Amino acid sequence: MRDVYLDNAATTYPKPESVYAAMDHFSRDIGGNPGRSGHHRSLEAGRVVLRARDALAILLGATNPSRVILTKNATEALNLGIKGILSAGGHAVVSCLEHNSVWRPLEALAPQGVTYTAVPCRGDGYIDPAAVGEAITPATKLLIFMHASNVTGILLPVAEIAALGHERGIPLLVDAAQTAGCYPINVEGMRIDLLAFTGHKELLGPQGTGGLYVAEGLEMPPLLEGGTGSNSRDPHQPDFLPDRFEAGTLNGVGLAGLHAGVEFVMGQGLERVREHTLELTERLTCGLGAMPHVTLYGTADAAGRVGIASFNVEGLESSEAASLLDERYGICVRSGLHCAPLAHRALGTLERGTVRASISYLSTPDDVDYLLECVAALKNI
Ligand SMILES: Cc1ncc(COP(=O)(O)O)c(C=O)c1O
Repeated sequence: MRDVYLDNAATTYPKPESVYAAMDHFSRDIGGNPGRSGHHRSLEAGRVVLRARDALAILLGATNPSRVILTKNATEALNLGIKGILSAGGHAVVSCLEHNSVWRPLEALAPQGVTYTAVPCRGDGYIDPAAVGEAITPATKLLIFMHASNVTGILLPVAEIAALGHERGIPLLVDAAQTAGCYPINVEGMRIDLLAFTGHKELLGPQGTGGLYVAEGLEMPPLLEGGTGSNSRDPHQPDFLPDRFEAGTLNGVGLAGLHAGVEFVMGQGLERVREHTLELTERLTCGLGAMPHVTLYGTADAAGRVGIASFNVEGLESSEAASLLDERYGICVRSGLHCAPLAHRALGTLERGTVRASISYLSTPDDVDYLLECVAALKNI
């Protein structure tokens, strides 16, 4: 049986060889704690972190790398931004497609007086910036929008939303979990104030890595206090970045791998990555869209998407279809709600969920064709 992995929106697999090699090298040959001691292993570990941060800053278009805060995933980065800006209460405007890593922190802040408005999407899954403008009130303190939906793959107009926020002096937090590494991002050019990303998806790094870009001039409290290796006599968390937001030992081995992933993506070039993603997405959405027994969610226009397609097969629960694809054909896809019940409510799939197939830069046309062939075969089950 073949072994085809198309669950890259959950986490990419496989990683480039250079990622495995960098993690092995860190674990075997470096081994020190980054930023803690003065010996050569600690200094070398510190340089690994520095290089990862510098590469991420270049990839994201941030002039000052110390404004790229390293976290363990996008969820931690989103919590840092959301709880940082809304710690004293206030209103947020979000999309109706947001992940639980936005929805749950907002709900958890309700006792502090935090409220939010979820902007609905159109039938094709697109969010209209004009609707965002209408949802903003005098109490709005933060706009939170994903860059691409992890359910439909549809891109949101975050640059236009950032412009709306700037007209009113309201910062924008972008959840780039599904775009960093496969879609061009320039935080300064797009005037994004906060951008949360994860290392283990399209940046092709390992799990346990991610980060938050924080624009110059934006003040917020840290989520955690603790050791940084800097100002150790001071009982208070340092007030300079990145130490202010990076308490505790960083994931040195993970960051070695993430650096290799980012270097790989930059070496290929984001244009080439995007071109490859577009080609495979088109193949995937056109193929699924043409099957009468399949319902594809969101627009079939690949240009407005990242490499994600959500669908259902007539007569099968999403979990049944995904299990059949795995057990009969060796294809890994995800089923259910994809941690985004708000998006399923908007799409009308809250009860059934969807089957989600998602590609990475390392996916091939053959992987997509095999999936299409197997989904076609599900018609007769
Ligand atoms: C849109 C979106 N936001 C946030 C997350 C959370 O990312 P992480 O697993 O890195 O915490 C995900 C992961 O699936 C996602 O798809």
